[in-house]
Amino acid sequence: MKIAVFGTGYVGLVTAVGLANTGKKVICIDNDLEKVEKIRKGISPIYEPGLDALLLKNLERLAITSNAADAITASDVIIIAVGTPFDGNRIDLSYIRQAAREIGEAIKNTDDYKVVVVKSTVVPDTTMGVVRPIVLEHSGKQEEEVGFCMNPEFLREGNAVEDFLDPDRIVLGVSSPEVEAMMREVYDGYRDSAILITNPTTAEMIKYTANSFLALTISFSNEIARICENLPGVDSEEVFNGVIHDKRFSPIIGKERITPQLASYLRAGVGFGGSCFPKDVKALRSFSKGLKVDGKLLDGLLHINETQLEHVFSMGLKKFSGKARRIAVLGTAFKPNTDDVRESPGVKLAQMALGQGIQVAVQDYVALSNTKALLGAQVEYYDDPLEAVEGADIVFVTTIWPQYLDISEEDFEKHMPEQAIMVDTRSHFKERKAKKWRHRIGVGQPLPVNGEVEYSLRNNGYGIH
Ligand code: UDX
Repeated sequence: MKIAVFGTGYVGLVTAVGLANTGKKVICIDNDLEKVEKIRKGISPIYEPGLDALLLKNLERLAITSNAADAITASDVIIIAVGTPFDGNRIDLSYIRQAAREIGEAIKNTDDYKVVVVKSTVVPDTTMGVVRPIVLEHSGKQEEEVGFCMNPEFLREGNAVEDFLDPDRIVLGVSSPEVEAMMREVYDGYRDSAILITNPTTAEMIKYTANSFLALTISFSNEIARICENLPGVDSEEVFNGVIHDKRFSPIIGKERITPQLASYLRAGVGFGGSCFPKDVKALRSFSKGLKVDGKLLDGLLHINETQLEHVFSMGLKKFSGKARRIAVLGTAFKPNTDDVRESPGVKLAQMALGQGIQVAVQDYVALSNTKALLGAQVEYYDDPLEAVEGADIVFVTTIWPQYLDISEEDFEKHMPEQAIMVDTRSHFKERKAKKWRHRIGVGQPLPVNGEVEYSLRNNGYGIH
């Protein structure tokens, strides 16, 4: 079986290398000649832990070309893994349509049965309602001559290789039993994973629902955190810990309590970023509006996320006594183990500060060059967090890089000005809270103003009579 993969971003390239790793012959297609050259040499054009090694290991089974027609003609299965950005109003399917046209043109004069797979995140009915008509129109083929499948990816940036090599589920939205058989062969190297067979539109909906649920968990956490910040002695971490101990959330098997990774999304923070959650939730909401569905929950989820950054920023400004002149942002990658700065909370906080005429220093371990491409000469760039915090009135820790935990409070206090404060936006230093670290405030923790939290139920109209 030969497989062609359109697009060599973190989804396309990881998919190509992951399938080659199970013995499949894979041809990557990309029109970026620089990327083509790099991959040919076994160099990954994207930062993804473990990808370079896996690429090198499978180079003899992996071809890369900018000639889509040849790759498609030679393949049995063609996987579309191109970008589907949000254009401000709805999902942008232009790259998907372009790929579908090229596939249609390329298979016009072929006789063998092909399966076209959509792996990109697309709104429901894109596979059968957009890709299929375009492929059939441009190839002149009949419906029964070409198979279609929607096979969503569930890869996390920074963990994409691990997530592909050890998938918790493989969803196959197939147009016919023949397509199912071929797709089972594509994934025959993944016998331990659950294979969920459904139709293409359901597969599209599974993907959006999965991401929206994770994003919802984060926004829910941030709204609960805002309540806790007004309550003396109430730390949202302890609140969520109490919730997570519900055995429906963390079952006790044998003598052991199994805490799901989902628990880490039930946590106050600076809001979600990245190239997936924001665009996927917005695309789903825009899609549901088209169906005249009342989407107040998705609207609310997005609203909380968009205002959480302002909330955290103003928390820092409020806590700092005086007018802040300079801030430091520790972490501009949207999350650890990636150099991706798309929808990055750290970058957005820097832009907020610049908008108020505040000087900005930023630090990151791998995302500085991508940050420079966005912020240019407006900010100062540091590799070392202790240099970045020098002279800062407020330090925002926005990416939970593990390396920050190797830095002692004493070192931070040595380099931060006496009056400076640290907004630990993801409670990264939570275990240090107990020592009443004079600099630190945490999101979702009571925010004492002038020494104490201004709170009284009686002030809230509940009275004692
Ligand atoms: C996400 C989904 O997890 C993945 O399944 C899907 O295929 C693509 O979208 P990704 O955006 O790469 O993956 O990473 P993820 O780790 O889920 O982070 C998304 C956002 O949630 C980030 O802003 C991150 O900081 C935040 N997050 C993540 C949390 O707030 N808490 C966590 O425990 C993990």
